[in-house]
Amino acid sequence: MTQETLKADIKALLKERNAVLLAHNYMRDEVQEVADITGDSLALSIEAAKTDAEVIVFCGVHFMAESASILAPEKTVLLPRLDAGCPMADMVSVEALREMKSQFPGVPVVTYVNSSAAVKAESDICCTSANAVKVVQSMSEKEIIFAPDRNLGSYIARFTDKKFHLWEGYCPTHERLRPEVVKELKQANPDAPFVCHPECNPKVVELADHVCSTTGMYDYCKKSGAKRFIIGTEAGILWRLKRENPDKEFILASPALICPNMKLTSLEDVCEALQHMKPVVKVPEDIRIPAKRALDRMLAIPRD
Ligand code: 13P
Ligand code: SF4
Repeated sequence: MTQETLKADIKALLKERNAVLLAHNYMRDEVQEVADITGDSLALSIEAAKTDAEVIVFCGVHFMAESASILAPEKTVLLPRLDAGCPMADMVSVEALREMKSQFPGVPVVTYVNSSAAVKAESDICCTSANAVKVVQSMSEKEIIFAPDRNLGSYIARFTDKKFHLWEGYCPTHERLRPEVVKELKQANPDAPFVCHPECNPKVVELADHVCSTTGMYDYCKKSGAKRFIIGTEAGILWRLKRENPDKEFILASPALICPNMKLTSLEDVCEALQHMKPVVKVPEDIRIPAKRALDRMLAIPRD
């Protein structure tokens, strides 16, 4: 079956099932093309919470579909590839987090949304890369536990005088980008600002002209007067960057910036998920309620 036929079948099934297709900015190009909405983790959580559709087809990784199920329990959430996980989210378990909490009694836990629903349920508040600074600044406590991304945590620690107890997790995809490679690219392309995601190693973040979430990159590159950019995040971001800025050039900082989990979902998988209405991701109520509290606290913080 051609991609065009598959896309037409998906569109028809979405209508038939009263479903909305949400795709993360790192998805394969053809999946982003057929999506109703593309966005970063924050934008997609908000869409999941407010959509009128009965079914949410989440093209992303497992924790994102869980967030949709937490925020919209009355809807059916489909994750076309159940094996699309996030290795960083898997670096923190409930038991290990409880152990850390017991070492710092009374210290609140700020958890990056790249985490399981069960870990969110153990947390005081969530954040995404788009709102992490605001979330931490909104807290009155002088000390926080930040999990699971040590790179995002050390980046936002710069913007507050709070004491951070960092979990030692990281994104294997972003961690593959080495500072030496970025330095060489910057020397070879002095006109091109280097824009990176805060999941990159702090030595890479230090070299950045701008640090932001995936959606932040679309805004920055669109508004910037520069004509060329060095991009330090997962390769999937290039599709929309190029489409929205046909007159600009985007240089991916490394060919290693590919998240295998984000690349699993194909058009065939989306079509099959809609045909058979599975795999479904459903967070049980005893986890959903406390996890929702942490997500709601985050969503209550005003955005720009
Ligand atoms: P965003 O929050 O920027 O969408 O990033 C999510 C993610 O998984 C980055 O690796
Ligand atoms: Fe997880 Fe990194 Fe993949 Fe994002 S890019 S889903 S943080 S492994």
